[in-house]
Parts: sequence; structure tokens; C-alpha cells
Amino acid sequence: MTPDTPPHATPGAVPLDGTRFAGDPAALYRRLRDRHGPVVPVTLTGGRPAWLVIGYREAHHVAGHPEIFARDPGTAGHGGPPSLAALDGDAHERRAGALGDALEATEPLGLRRAAERAADALVDTFCARGRADLTADFAEPLTARVLTGLCGFPDAEAHLVAAALGAPPDEGGEGDEGSTARADLTAAVAALVTRRRATAPPPGSGDGRGPDLVSRLLADPRALTDEEVTRDTTALLTTGHRPTADWIGSTLRLMLTDDRFSAPVSGGRHNAGDALHEVLWDDTPTQNAPGRRATRATQLGGRSIAAGDLLVLGLQGANGDPEIRRAAGADAEAAFWVTGLTGISTAGNRAYLSFGHGTHRCPFPAQEIAETVARTGVEVLLDRLPDIAPDTQGGAPSRRPSPWRRGLAALPVRFQPTAERGAGGR
Ligand code: HEM
Repeated sequence: MTPDTPPHATPGAVPLDGTRFAGDPAALYRRLRDRHGPVVPVTLTGGRPAWLVIGYREAHHVAGHPEIFARDPGTAGHGGPPSLAALDGDAHERRAGALGDALEATEPLGLRRAAERAADALVDTFCARGRADLTADFAEPLTARVLTGLCGFPDAEAHLVAAALGAPPDEGGEGDEGSTARADLTAAVAALVTRRRATAPPPGSGDGRGPDLVSRLLADPRALTDEEVTRDTTALLTTGHRPTADWIGSTLRLMLTDDRFSAPVSGGRHNAGDALHEVLWDDTPTQNAPGRRATRATQLGGRSIAAGDLLVLGLQGANGDPEIRRAAGADAEAAFWVTGLTGISTAGNRAYLSFGHGTHRCPFPAQEIAETVARTGVEVLLDRLPDIAPDTQGGAPSRRPSPWRRGLAALPVRFQPTAERGAGGR
């Protein structure tokens, strides 16, 4: 282990660069854990020193104590009201509360139908070809269509928004902001907010069940400004799109390449739910989440953290911590006794940190929405193209080289060409 020193002085700090993370994350995090323990000194882009927290207990502690590990002001973004991710305390509660309520009011059956319709329409665009790239042709546009519909964009505008969302993410890993595509996206959301404001009931006067998410945010009793609604809707689209699309892509890869899932079981396939779940444990879309800064000197996993030190939540690393794996593999009660952590005692084998933890965790209704979109997408695709298999001529599915987000740059597949189903086929 390296001596107990702040990261700027830590020799042997590990560069958090993309290529290192494109391979086998389990092996990488095992090496890091063996060499450095649960809190690893790393350097970010531009040589900025930080601590990568890959111990489950330690990551849980950092995410659960915003008074010691506050959001980094650097995540505030460019101009306008600060993003949800940059706020703490009451200011965060006001905005996150409104967003959580607006997401919560999403009607589950309507969402499932919208996901089915979008998935069927996308399969129609390539089913006669016999080949497709499931990242560009399916996972990304499916997520974009469903999320834009949820926000209230008419179908005719969805493709504009989808193009902006499909733009390569900013590898700073945090905000995905600043590019032209992002500016286009913000402008489109602002225009939608202005249109909806004209018809939305005054804040607090509605029943909280507006027809779409933007209308619900505008009618929320916390009286958000148009700028705040624009900011949070844009953030929801950018934070939600990439991990959901990656979750779908990585799950399909697992189901198409692993015998446990690809072998037909009495005419059908294994439950998509098992594969979705396994991906969250082993190949999670948000590998590492940046943006915490120590508000004071403290101890963490045997390291002395200085006031002002930057920390990165190593979510995939924490998921692979042998201590939690042993506990989660046994049962929920064991997970509680081994880690001593409340909050996971009833979650059982959903104790992964893939959706974060604490006040800045992925809002629960967002997790449910993501799961509905992902599960529906996977099920519709396998139902429509039962003989689908990896297209080996296209090479092995390639990972995007990013230490932040784990997903497939491309997932080439082939199948027996089939007829389009057309609108209303389900
Ligand atoms: C419908 C899709 C989704 C939406 C709308 C959504 C939305 C959000 C929002 C608004 C936040 C910020 C919360 C805050 O700072 O208060 C967040 C955080 C987060 N989301 Fe999601 N999300 C979605 C899907 C996912 C998926 C599929 C994953 C990964 C499996 C994921 C992982 C995370 C993580 C790890 C955080 C916390 C980051 C941190 O603590 O720094 N999200 N999400």
C-alpha cells in the first residue's frame, strides 16, 4: 500500500484513462484493490489528482454523507441555474423533489406501450436487412424516443432531440454539456417549456398528473422557474439516455453471447430480467461517478483525505468488492450483517451501487422507468428476431473507451430477414 498521503503527493497514482477501462473491469478493479486497497489515488484528465473509491463500504459512506463529501462546485455547468447534480441541501431537495414527483407520476402501462411501439417501429427499420448494429439502430434511438415522449416532445421533434442525445458524450464524465448538440438540445427543451407554460395550470393548483413530465414540473407546488424546468429536463435527458441505452446494449450482448442466456429453454429464452440484473452487478453502465469534494479533512479506507480533495465514486469497483459479493450471494440478511449497512438489508441481491446511493442517487422512479424501457426493448427485439446472433464478420463487439460509462460502441448482429410488422402490430 502507498503511504497515507493526499493524492497530489501520492506516487504511483493511476491515470483514469479510457483505454485501461475498455477491457475486463473485474480484473482491473481486482488489481487496483490488491495494490491500493479500497481508496485508490488516481489522476483525472489534465493530471488532476483524485481518489477513486472502490470499497463498497467506503463508496456507500461517501455517497451517504454529503456534509463531508459535497458535490463538487465544478459540476455547476455553464451559465443559468446550477444543475441538480451540483446542488446540495434544501436547494437540491426542492429541485430533486419536483423531478422525483414528476417522474413518479409516469403511468407504467402507458410507458410500457410507448416502449413497445418504439421498439417495434425500430425493428421494422432493419428487420428486412438481416443485419443491424444494435447500438446505433436500436438501443440508442429506442431510449431517445421513449424519454423524449415522456418529457412531452411530439414525435416530429423527437429525431432532433435523439440526434443531440446520440452525440458522443463529453468524456469529462459529468455534465455532458458544452457541445453544439447539447446547445441544440437545451434550445429544443426551452421551446417546449415555453409552449407548455402557456397551457399549464399555475404551480400547485393541478393534481400533479399533467400529461407529460414538463407539464408536471411546471405545475409543481415548488414553483420552479422556466429556466430551472429547462435545466432539469435537459439534465434528465442527458443523464438518463446514455446509461439506459448502454444497459440495453450490454444486456443484449450478454444474452447473445453467453450460453446461459443464448440457449433456448423449452422454446423460449431465459428471463431478460436475470440478464439485466447481472449486467448491473458486473458490467454496470455508470462505472465511475465523479464530482465529490471533501469539505474537511477526514479518514476513508485507511487514507487521510484532505479538505478540498476530489473523490470519484467507483461504482463498478464497489459492486465487485468481495465483501459485498459474498454477502449478496447469500441473502439479504447476510448482506446486512456483513456490511453493517442499513438500507440494503431489504434490497437483497439488489445491493449493487449501480444507481448510486444517498441524496444524489438516481431517483427511484427513474430507475423503474429505465428498467421498463430496457426490459421491454430486450423482450420485443428477441420476440421479433428469435434467431438473432452476433455478426462475427463485424468483429467482436467493441467497448467505448471511457472510465466513466461502460457500453458498446457497436453491437453487430445478423438474423433471418423478416417482414415489417407496421404500426399497431402488437
Ligand atoms: C430513465 C432513465 C434515467 C433517468 C431519467 C435518470 C435520471 C437521473 C438523475 C436526474 C440523476 C441525478 C440525481 C441528483 O443528482 O439528484 C441521476 C443520477 C444517477 N443515475 Fe440515473 N437516470 C436514468 C437511468 C440510469 C441508469 C440506467 C443508470 C445506471 C444503471 C443510472 C445511474 C445513475 C447514477 C449512478 C446516478 C448517481 C450519480 C452520482 O451519485 O454522482 N441512471 N439519474
